[in-house]
Amino acid sequence: MAGETTGVEIVDAALAGEAAPFAERLVADQVASKLASQDATLWGPEAESEASIRLSWTTLHKSSRPLIGEIEALRTDLRSEGVDRVVLAGMGGSSLAPEVITATDGVALTVLDTTDPGQVADALAGDLERTVIVVSSKSGGTVETDSHRRIFAKAFTDAGIDAARRIVVVTDPGSPFAELSEKEGYRKVFLADPNVGGRYSALTAFGLVPAGLAGADVARLLDQAASAAETLAADSVDNPAVKLAAAWTAAHEKGAEKVVIATVPSKEGGSVLKGFADWAEQLIAESTGKQGTGLLPVAVEGPDSPGFADAKDDATPVAVGQAEGTAKISVTGSLGAQFLLWEFATALAGRLLGINPFDQPDVEAAKKAARSLLDNPDKLKGGEKPSTVDGAVEVFGSEGVSTEGKLADILRAFFDSAPETGYIAVQAYLDRLDDASTSLLRGEVAKRTGRQTTFGWGPRFLHSTGQYHKGGHQNGVFLQITGAVEQDLDVPDRPYTLGVLQHAQALGDGQVLAEHGRPVLRLHLTDRAAGLAELVRAVQEAGE
Ligand code: PA5
Repeated sequence: MAGETTGVEIVDAALAGEAAPFAERLVADQVASKLASQDATLWGPEAESEASIRLSWTTLHKSSRPLIGEIEALRTDLRSEGVDRVVLAGMGGSSLAPEVITATDGVALTVLDTTDPGQVADALAGDLERTVIVVSSKSGGTVETDSHRRIFAKAFTDAGIDAARRIVVVTDPGSPFAELSEKEGYRKVFLADPNVGGRYSALTAFGLVPAGLAGADVARLLDQAASAAETLAADSVDNPAVKLAAAWTAAHEKGAEKVVIATVPSKEGGSVLKGFADWAEQLIAESTGKQGTGLLPVAVEGPDSPGFADAKDDATPVAVGQAEGTAKISVTGSLGAQFLLWEFATALAGRLLGINPFDQPDVEAAKKAARSLLDNPDKLKGGEKPSTVDGAVEVFGSEGVSTEGKLADILRAFFDSAPETGYIAVQAYLDRLDDASTSLLRGEVAKRTGRQTTFGWGPRFLHSTGQYHKGGHQNGVFLQITGAVEQDLDVPDRPYTLGVLQHAQALGDGQVLAEHGRPVLRLHLTDRAAGLAELVRAVQEAGE
């Protein structure tokens, strides 16, 4: 199709010149071909044991083929029973790829990667008679996904539907979910290749099963990846992954560690890869954000967005699609090809940056803090008093964060505490389907402060940029937004509700960030709609 040639163009001439030595180094060391043949020594002795069980993604365009028939057969069976609504429960690497695949193909998939009771209630309110839930978890132990499984199993049973017939599991062999599936007799278990990590799993069962069941053309996706595989394995300065990794590294060396990513439609009418920036954000942040270094991905709405259009020296705007406006790099290609290209580029950048791109050492800390809060419910209820209340917004701050005065003053002081070349992370523990003004916040904050601004839905981002926040460059400030829960949902056979879990996740991550010495400002909306409107106004006032 026109506009789908797989390629990377470093549009900015200075950056192209700076990238050249890094590209030549990768070529001289034959890193691309060694990566394609799954050489686990490329990231040094410390990373070798992890890398040795994480590299099967380089050949998934071949090894995943047998899945296509299995998925199609199950889809046909389900449809013959009138089951054509697919809900996916999965976090991070277990949901971001199917979300992009289905959005790009224009097929419906309800993704649950949240603990927001309102958002989960919305998914439950769909037609259960027509619903199958795909429960996807590599580890088989992720609390959000297990909660969704419990909630849906009960809802099916309450509706007189045989729950086991409506649950499909994707997991690694031997995981708790694999065992449970056998015990409960779930309809089908897809055991994924265990030698692929979550964020590299787009072309494994984790990406293909939910997307294929929803009706996306997953065979074509594998064809697209296959068409790029040879080019990506070449030890050449023209290899698009080599170019991309070299450009990111050169920019990083000059203090531009932020990679601002916008998808743009191709001028020749090629497809728009909807949601691709969110997928790439996880891949890059979790893979590189460690040991106090890394690349901070900033996913933005489009090439005109604040942060992209007005990027300064601390950021590299990357267009997914043909270069537009201020883009310094453009990456083109079909979705399947781009999955593989960005995975290659990230692994190559890991080598140049001197980090292990396959672990996520700081993700566990936030989970542990949330678990400890769940074990001490008193700390969650009433144990915290706001420093200030302004309308429908309660204000809480970590040590050293000013919480005095009106909301606009508090925000102004908070934003000013971010270094000019640092970043502001907006983290909304809210319903992402509920209020459009929430996602407008990123642009507003970026525009008013002139600082690079990321936006993450909690707890979704904990499985993505959360690693970078704690492990990457320590120059971020963190604005958490939590909200009152109108109607909570019980998690069957668990001593907490979804609302309590969501709250514990926000507080837990806030604690860990504060322990890293990062400024954390939490704004709790006692009335979500009113509080959000006040917040947007206060952000605008703070930037005047
Ligand atoms: O890339 C990763 O490893 C993570 O983002 C995981 O995908 C995420 O935490 C979900 O894990 P799991 O699939 O084990 O539920």
